[in-house]
Amino acid sequence: MCGIVGYTGPREAYPIVLKGLKRLEYRGYDSSGVALLNHGLKVYKKKGKVAELEESLIGADVKANIGIGHTRWATHGEPSDRNAHPHESASGRLAMIHNGIIENYALIKKELENKGYSFKSDTDTEVLLNFIDDIQQHNDCSLEEAVRVALKRVVGAYCILLIDKEDPHTIIAARKGSPLVIGIGKGEHFLASDASPIIEYTKEVVYVNDYELAIVRPDELILKNLGNEKITPYVTKLDMELAAIEKGGYDHFMIKEIFEQPKTIYDCLRGRLDVAKGTITMAGVENYMEQLKNAHRIIIIACGTSWHAGLVAEYIIEELCRIPVEVEYASEFRYRNPVVNKGDVIIAISQSGETADTLVAIEKAKEQGAIIFGVVNAVGSSIARASHTGAYTHSGPEIGVASTKAFTGQLAVLTMIALKIAHNKGTISEERYLQLLQDLHDVPEKVDAILKNAEEVKAIADKYKDSTDALFLGRGYNFPVALEGALKLKEISYIHAEGYPAAEMKHGPIALVTETLPVIFVATKDSYHEKVVSNMQEIKARKGRVISIITEGDELSTSLSNDVFAVPPADEIVAPMLSVIPLQLLSYYVGIAKGYDVDKPRNLAKSVTVE
Ligand code: F6R
Repeated sequence: MCGIVGYTGPREAYPIVLKGLKRLEYRGYDSSGVALLNHGLKVYKKKGKVAELEESLIGADVKANIGIGHTRWATHGEPSDRNAHPHESASGRLAMIHNGIIENYALIKKELENKGYSFKSDTDTEVLLNFIDDIQQHNDCSLEEAVRVALKRVVGAYCILLIDKEDPHTIIAARKGSPLVIGIGKGEHFLASDASPIIEYTKEVVYVNDYELAIVRPDELILKNLGNEKITPYVTKLDMELAAIEKGGYDHFMIKEIFEQPKTIYDCLRGRLDVAKGTITMAGVENYMEQLKNAHRIIIIACGTSWHAGLVAEYIIEELCRIPVEVEYASEFRYRNPVVNKGDVIIAISQSGETADTLVAIEKAKEQGAIIFGVVNAVGSSIARASHTGAYTHSGPEIGVASTKAFTGQLAVLTMIALKIAHNKGTISEERYLQLLQDLHDVPEKVDAILKNAEEVKAIADKYKDSTDALFLGRGYNFPVALEGALKLKEISYIHAEGYPAAEMKHGPIALVTETLPVIFVATKDSYHEKVVSNMQEIKARKGRVISIITEGDELSTSLSNDVFAVPPADEIVAPMLSVIPLQLLSYYVGIAKGYDVDKPRNLAKSVTVE
């Protein structure tokens, strides 16, 4: 959460920083701001989206060769101009931006207040900044040294960028728990929360690690640890194209990413799945096959949509590999006292690879001797690096705040992992194994066929857009899809929605059924289908409005439904990758029909780097 950008070099910093903020806006859009150094410090900030800042700066003096910028997802203090970053130190010398939370800021604030400091904002950032400034003034040390001393006192997560009026070419940066990438140009450096603001200028980057501090000048990058020892920067090449982070003719990133799924699922399978040879190649699984196939238990940890992918994986792994699986919310797992034994394998699922709860949960499980297998989309991210082994989903940058293509990528990877373990372990017949390889191979084509009928979903969306509530029901592999459909609808269209196992409905939620409540059944043909049809009858008998996602040719379900959307037939193991597509489209079209900003839904942010 919160996006940060910095530039130092010969070019104009403001346009680079502003463009970077637009690319990072998915990380938070409560306010934004920039600080520029050019014969003095200039700080401009504004509540609202980056476009509002840009408009307010038309005609302003933004000339500078060094600058930092921030787009905020509010934690301490309401969204306002006052609480927007960058913050200036009381001395007027320093400006700082921050992504993260300083947990012990109240204590430090008290100490500073006792020394006579007063604060202009409610933020933890302004406290940390003045703490740094105070240390520098009282110890007559360099800013770098003051940052190091201050950070040793700090409890919490941070990525900070600081500029100093007295040193007009240098950005000091440090991270713990919140991401930081530094792009290396010719006589210039770019800093950002992820590579999207950098890719246009250079492909050479350094991912800064926790407890590292960077001193960044146009022609120099010095990396140190908090003990003041130099570290050799490890330069990697970005494997990403600019087109991947642009809308490419679509109105929104969300619909672009929904429509990209035939390709992203294909990219995920490409080079791994070989139907002709009957093989799945995944080094991350092969290298840990003994531990994986002999795991006493697999614990899947994730949040949100990734957690839903984990639930689907629970069904698949238990069915195919006969290994007990538990699926945990990372935020719950990390704070209780979970029993993790040697021989347990943790699968951590994350699109961003930066979700704070998942990251801490991994560390906790690691301490207890578990093997960590990361299923991550963002290459080089913190979770990918914290895992012992893993597999990338190769879905490409996901910029719409609601997760869509990452979910189907996660399902594709998790299915391949399960198939590979099951085949090696002998818990799947050769015939079923080969059939499932083929089914998996066919998924991109089937998703493409579904997307060709997107207009049908739009018509359903227009019909039900004014509903105040919705119920999503499914069984077996489709139960997590029902949860995912409900999550998508609430976050994009602000309609209260709940997902339930279809059979569980009669234990309570059926009381909500009226003539106006849309009840969305995820009812593709699988081993639970007859039971789901009975549940449909129960809703119908109570005059509920039934909308069903069915398998092509399912006349019985059609006759019981007010509206249907049909998907191609598929084995139940791969069916969630198909049945989720109309639900993604439904939330998108309802959101659009209601005039909402579907790429930046209210109160949300893409990368949840606070707990
Ligand atoms: C929902 C959504 C979130 C994320 C969750 C986990 O559309 O995007 O629920 O799935 O915040 O994020 P990652 O996968 O980045 O760990």
